[in-house]
Amino acid sequence: MNYRHAYHAGNHADVLKHWLLTRCIALMQKKSAPIAYIDTHAGIGLYDLQGEEALKTDEWREGIARLWGSDQPLLVDYLHAVSELNDDDELRYYPGSPELVRCLTRSQDHLYLNEKHPTDGQLLKENMRIDLRVTVHLGEGWHVPRALLPTAEKRLLMLIDPPFEEGDDLQSCVRALEESLARMRQAIVCLWYPVKDVAQLRRFYQQLQKSSAPSLLRVELYVHKPDDATRLNGSGMVICNPPWGLEDELRQLLPWLAETLQQSAGGWRLDWLIAD
Ligand SMILES: C[S@@+](CC[C@H](N)C(=O)[O-])C[C@H]1O[C@@H](n2cnc3c(N)ncnc32)[C@H](O)[C@@H]1O
Repeated sequence: MNYRHAYHAGNHADVLKHWLLTRCIALMQKKSAPIAYIDTHAGIGLYDLQGEEALKTDEWREGIARLWGSDQPLLVDYLHAVSELNDDDELRYYPGSPELVRCLTRSQDHLYLNEKHPTDGQLLKENMRIDLRVTVHLGEGWHVPRALLPTAEKRLLMLIDPPFEEGDDLQSCVRALEESLARMRQAIVCLWYPVKDVAQLRRFYQQLQKSSAPSLLRVELYVHKPDDATRLNGSGMVICNPPWGLEDELRQLLPWLAETLQQSAGGWRLDWLIAD
């Protein structure tokens, strides 16, 4: 387990993933019934962009820094959550998915977070200790669907966000999706993945299309042409059972986001792998 998210916090991939999470929560909260949020690979929850790791890569400068100060209406919730961590207008702290969701959820909602790395797991516990709605587990992320589902709350948002250090993480994502749907068919499940090796991704899409998912919306955002499998050309999220209204919002924001975050090239894709 070499991956540490502190090197990548706030990069273009975090922006897409975290903006999508923000919108899923906002759209789910149109109803008052409690929501459970599960993060199978949670990280530490909160990142210092002036910390040693973040400064080593400076990835956030091509990510959240490019959005900072924007008045784009669909970014209001997301940027507000980030600004709550920062004094004045200076961008220094960035929320990982646990802290972002913690800020956006209500008293009736619950968060179940899992992180396997022992040091990062302890940091996550410390960062979340003030909030009684949060439970932190320090176990294997791939066991989470079997261990925690079904949740007491009937409405579930789950993020599956592994580090992709292992060659079979894409297949493990499909298996985790299947295991989750077998226990909670109505769950909203978000699978994050890097856009690197296009041939590998093609197999991933085929496996997803053969899955038992009732619906799967695919979103991808590119900051380079996807023609070099050794670099992070972009990122994607497959959303099972996306909340009503998300597709429209994506269609509105993706062109702007692709233009704002592009590096050597920019682009996006939005389509259904399995239509509703
Ligand atoms: C991409 S990061 C998560 C980022 C986080 N979801 C966010 O958006 O802020 C992946 C995390 O998975 C953890 N991890 C790696 N292997 C794991 C495993 N088998 N089970 C659970 N967590 C694991 C890593 O330590 C790392 O913190």
